[in-house]
Amino acid sequence: MKKIILSSLLLTGLIQAKEIVKEDLHACKVCHGRKFEKKALGKSKKVSEMSYSEIKSALVGYKKRTYGGNLKGIMERQVYNLKSIKEASKEIYSINHELDGSEF
Ligand code: HEC
Repeated sequence: MKKIILSSLLLTGLIQAKEIVKEDLHACKVCHGRKFEKKALGKSKKVSEMSYSEIKSALVGYKKRTYGGNLKGIMERQVYNLKSIKEASKEIYSINHELDGSEF
């Protein structure tokens, strides 16, 4: 019985953690589109067409200030809203791609 309670607590924790990441992406979609299919402010790449590693390197790059174009200042502020760049990148990539487990 204890085990069941413990594992359901763990599971709830995992689900909540996932929801937090999802929630973070709401703000992004204002500019990037619901499925990240738009060129944000007419300038960005269509993130929906980027690979997982391209998305991740872009976000890491904005955080380290080593990546971006004329509007990178906007994204440098945005990445601070992400709890985990890795998890957010997975989440974004999986919006438009069926995962088979070999991606990450
Ligand atoms: C205010 C509008 C806006 C919001 C909100 C926004 N972005 Fe962006 N995003 C942009 C723009 C503009 C660029 C291109 C910036 C540049 O010049 O490098 C960009 C670029 C990107 C790129 C790289 C694409 C490329 O062109 O190389 C990724 C990935 C990305 N954004 C993800 C996100 C995520 C994740 C969030 C939410 C945490 C987010 N964006 C929120 C406007 C926005």
